[in-house]
Amino acid sequence: MPIVTYILRDGDRREIEVPAGTSVMEAAIHGNVRGIDAECGGCLSCATCHVYIDASSTADLPLPDDSELELLDGVAAERRPESRLSCQLVMMAAMEGLVVRIPPTQG
Ligand code: FES
Repeated sequence: MPIVTYILRDGDRREIEVPAGTSVMEAAIHGNVRGIDAECGGCLSCATCHVYIDASSTADLPLPDDSELELLDGVAAERRPESRLSCQLVMMAAMEGLVVRIPPTQG
């Protein structure tokens, strides 16, 4: 099963197995990863699942769609080129090696 690495605000790393079809946000919630609140439950309206894709990540990610890009405009933390909403990252084989970083204002 693919593993996603979450780098927390304090630099701690959590590695969680994420089954195909499960979002990076859902896995974080079930794994009690601090800093991903997902207040809307993944319906693309809160942006509290914001993450940065770490430079060490080797995952091949699908591009964000227009709805995700629009919501990323309103994230609380700095928006960066590597910003993504973790509820929109649904695990598939090409995403093996994904490393995400929790923004410093979350958690
Ligand atoms: S969980 Fe609300 S936008 Fe991702």
